[in-house]
Amino acid sequence: MQKLEEVLPFVHEAKNIHLAFYLYAAKSLGIKYKVLYPGIAQFWYKDKTWFIVKAMTPLNSMTARVVSGNKFTTVEVLRKAGLSVPKQTLVYSFKDLVSAKKQLGDIVVKPIKGSGGHGITILPQTKNDLQKAYKSATQKRKIAIAEEYFEGENYRIIVLGNKVLGVIKRLSAFVIGDGKHTIAELIEQKNKKRKKVGNATIKFNYDLELMLQKQNLSLNDIPAKGQKVALHGTSNLSEGGDVLNAQDSLQKYYLDISVKAAKALNLRFSGVDLIVRNPTQPGPYIINELNHSPGVRLAFLGTGRNIAEDVLKYIINLDLCVT
Ligand SMILES: Nc1ncnc2c1ncn2[C@@H]1O[C@H](COP(=O)(O)OP(=O)(O)O)[C@@H](O)[C@H]1O
Ligand SMILES: [Mg+2]
Repeated sequence: MQKLEEVLPFVHEAKNIHLAFYLYAAKSLGIKYKVLYPGIAQFWYKDKTWFIVKAMTPLNSMTARVVSGNKFTTVEVLRKAGLSVPKQTLVYSFKDLVSAKKQLGDIVVKPIKGSGGHGITILPQTKNDLQKAYKSATQKRKIAIAEEYFEGENYRIIVLGNKVLGVIKRLSAFVIGDGKHTIAELIEQKNKKRKKVGNATIKFNYDLELMLQKQNLSLNDIPAKGQKVALHGTSNLSEGGDVLNAQDSLQKYYLDISVKAAKALNLRFSGVDLIVRNPTQPGPYIINELNHSPGVRLAFLGTGRNIAEDVLKYIINLDLCVT
């Protein structure tokens, strides 16, 4: 198992955590590199050269990145490929959102593009919730998505070519009560620990407010000892979520689905976001998105391996000219 501290010197050089993992991997594989600009590096191996921009590698074409970067087109392509995806509606106005909610029931509202759970609201119910959800999903672009909510466990599957490099289980932000401290205090305590290891803190935002409301709790309540309090609907690390290695706990059925999804979207390297009811047997699931430039840090925290090494090896062995 590699240590996170070993990557830290490269962060200074790369000015980006994902690129730092690639520099670290290049060094151990004897691949030459130069940081051209914060977050951008050039690599050389024999007669080959390529660039990596933060988490973005040359393995996926520009068109595949555009299609998978759009959560609506992604779902359409996957549906066509026979994979299970949530029902979705494009939302051009608040009125559209209200009718989408009536049609779909329990929903998630999200920006058409984006990452890190930004702008996403899970299970808005009241008109006020919907208004806030709409506002937050349309901060950057006017079009948003309303999609069916799917209850289950969240996984990130890293796919390279036909192979699964890593399976990571993702837990939405939570705290465990100790019978003494308020929820706000427990969050502060957890955030201190998260900051120490360079993880994003649990955000005091509307998603958190909604989640507490659903449990009839407020930030000033003192949960009982051992009581688990859910804080966010999204499971992203950047929203305060946690990651666990799940290499052996997810049925092969879901790994095959992930490889099929990556193929359908023409991605050589991707992070498949999957929600499953029961990881131990084939059953109901949805693919909620595919990431064309998956975070290497998340994969490292979840698997203890620097998957950047596999990616660089793949690039140097690739016959095709890298794009
Ligand atoms: N349809 C859904 N049902 C339940 N939870 C969802 C759904 N879509 C997204 N989520 C939750 O929100 C998180 C972020 O959504 P995602 O579409 O992956 O956007 P991002 O690109 O911001 O990661 C997911 O990892 C998952 O925890
Ligand atoms: Mg995601």
